[in-house]
Amino acid sequence: MIKYLMKIFSSFPSKDNPENWEIFNHDDYLKSSENQKKEIRRSSCIARYNIEKDTKYSWMENYFLKDIDQKKLENKTLLDLGCFTGGRLLAWAENYNLKKSYGLDINPIFKIAADEFADEKNLNVDFKIGVGEKLPYEDNFFDFVVSTDTFEHVQNLENSIDECFRVLKPGGMLLAIFPQYLQPFESHLNFVTNLPCLHWFFNAKKISEKYFEILDERGGNAKWYRGEKKSLENWEKLPTLNGTSIRKFQKILKINDWDNIRWIKRPILTDGRRSKKLIFKMLSLLFYPLIHIKYLDELFMGRICVICKK
Ligand SMILES: C[S@@+](CC[C@H](N)C(=O)[O-])C[C@H]1O[C@@H](n2cnc3c(N)ncnc32)[C@H](O)[C@@H]1O
Repeated sequence: MIKYLMKIFSSFPSKDNPENWEIFNHDDYLKSSENQKKEIRRSSCIARYNIEKDTKYSWMENYFLKDIDQKKLENKTLLDLGCFTGGRLLAWAENYNLKKSYGLDINPIFKIAADEFADEKNLNVDFKIGVGEKLPYEDNFFDFVVSTDTFEHVQNLENSIDECFRVLKPGGMLLAIFPQYLQPFESHLNFVTNLPCLHWFFNAKKISEKYFEILDERGGNAKWYRGEKKSLENWEKLPTLNGTSIRKFQKILKINDWDNIRWIKRPILTDGRRSKKLIFKMLSLLFYPLIHIKYLDELFMGRICVICKK
């Protein structure tokens, strides 16, 4: 039944979509000339850079700078945890006159792309390879740690938040945004199916089993986005997802002694590609009341979004 539904609503990633990091595993990248490779890396940076350059769609503007005065970023040190190919961070470095910007992610290709784009933009940004669970920075180092759509993927979220607390200066702020596990459109199965809410109704292990089966059936064509995994790892609830709910995240935030925590609550369909369409804009209005009701928020909030002051 699960596989049948997934197949009726099949979807496939595009090898030309620079938003997917898996394009770096595609033969179009691997077998291309050095110049073409550079162009593909650049397209990956540009995709996120352009979002943050557009005040209408910028996550920094729309989620965080409604609550924080933009001037507070001026001349400050900022870490982007899970910076991907650096596009968002480089836009922030330009937009907000930061003193020094730092980016960290797990994949060496991301660092190469980010460094190249920083050079092109003539920006002095320090990109490192590392993990959120063990940040390679001193205690009390940053004024801001920003993390967008990354905390749902880390293997150990408790450690990652603990690390953010450690590297922030007293009075520094963690700006975090990521989808809660039950967000209907964020089950991260979209390389295989675009059916939302599947994980509301079916067991996550079963869904994952079928997900891997479908990928295997696709054979060589799916090699570039299939990855090596045959099954979930211990920390995964669905492929690449640690399964953090709003309630679980609230508990994690209690581990550290944050001075102040602000939640920014917006319903599904208020960001991303769908939010650009009028029909979805109107639909999202219906969900506003639901995100203030305990447990329904797990289903209808767009993303967990918090500003935590140390
Ligand atoms: C969905 S992408 C989001 C990228 C970027 N922050 C954005 O909003 O466009 C998630 C990123 O988290 C990174 N990531 C996954 N696990 C991580 C970890 N343990 N520590 C740091 N980054 C991690 C991935 O490599 C990927 O670049």
